[in-house]
Amino acid sequence: MGWTESYRGGSAAAENAAFQRLAEDINRAQEKARRAADSATIERAFHAKPLLATDDAELRFHSDLPRDLTSGFAQPGAQYRARVRFSNAASRRRPDSEKDMRGIAVRVYVSDIEQHDFLGTNYPVSHARDARQFVRFALATAGGTFSRVLGIAELFFSEGPAETVRMLRNVSKARRRSDSAALETYWSRDAMRWGPSLAVRFLLRPIAAAPPSQRFDSDPDGLSKELAARLAAAPVRFELAIQRYVDERATPIEDTSIAWEPSAARIEPVATLTIAQQDITTAAAREKSRIINASAFNPWNTTDEFRPLGNLNRARKSVYAASAALRGSNG
Ligand code: HEM
Repeated sequence: MGWTESYRGGSAAAENAAFQRLAEDINRAQEKARRAADSATIERAFHAKPLLATDDAELRFHSDLPRDLTSGFAQPGAQYRARVRFSNAASRRRPDSEKDMRGIAVRVYVSDIEQHDFLGTNYPVSHARDARQFVRFALATAGGTFSRVLGIAELFFSEGPAETVRMLRNVSKARRRSDSAALETYWSRDAMRWGPSLAVRFLLRPIAAAPPSQRFDSDPDGLSKELAARLAAAPVRFELAIQRYVDERATPIEDTSIAWEPSAARIEPVATLTIAQQDITTAAAREKSRIINASAFNPWNTTDEFRPLGNLNRARKSVYAASAALRGSNG
């Protein structure tokens, strides 16, 4: 096993009390974003704009899945129905042509009572060491230019200049334009259990993806249209791969600002995610997309053997639930 978790504030209870405050901060940020967008609708606190939302997908584990990665729903050759939502990471719906991170959320349906949600963004390492830093940074850099300048000045005081510069550098590399959400690699950026004893991070990377079928550079909904054109022609496939925990220095559990380098933790493919060829422009597909957008993914929607690990992840349990509740998600 080797890996351990450690709670901030000395106990799970102290840490949880801090997470409750983060959840309240996130709810306030959602309300602020609603006012700024002059909208009646409260959106997700992050990843507000969907690029594709479909239930026509499946996850299939490789038939040669190594024995020590075989556990629970992860069985050689096992195949499950999946829900997929691609998104822009911003808290407001902005044109797809703007610099941003992109996200993928995948729900794997094992049975009526067992599902597993996998969430990833297209940059391998988080700017934030922990959940507190994640939320502070998000609040400081939200809003217009003036409020951002004030927010960054506050970060210099609360986090210190070195940490503030480190985070700003990370985010400025991570936020970029994309030709296609189907051509991006998405990383979990934090750890989860895999079976009775392993801790892993995961990534989803495109399999032999063709270049963009069409370019929609200046179109505000260009990435959605590109996915629609791509899926009208062929299925889109990603490989799900994991990296195993090695030791606290190379592959920390609690500090999410440190990348798990492939040279230290080998990338091991475990499954294929296939999004079926489909027409996502029909009225039925649009209605399905609306229903999926109203639902809520959460990395804690899983079993204990695959539960998320580390401070950032422990916070996500209550923070995602609070964001989903405020926007009236139907679960
Ligand atoms: C670093 C690892 C993280 C990754 C890879 C990640 C990824 C994602 C993705 C892909 C979504 C969109 C899910 C969807 O399509 O519905 C999302 C939503 C969200 N994320 Fe994260 N996230 C991370 C960390 C965090 C942290 C640390 C927080 C706050 C403590 C946070 C707060 C949220 C919230 C509030 C939502 C919206 C939830 C909802 O209303 O359904 N995330 N995230």
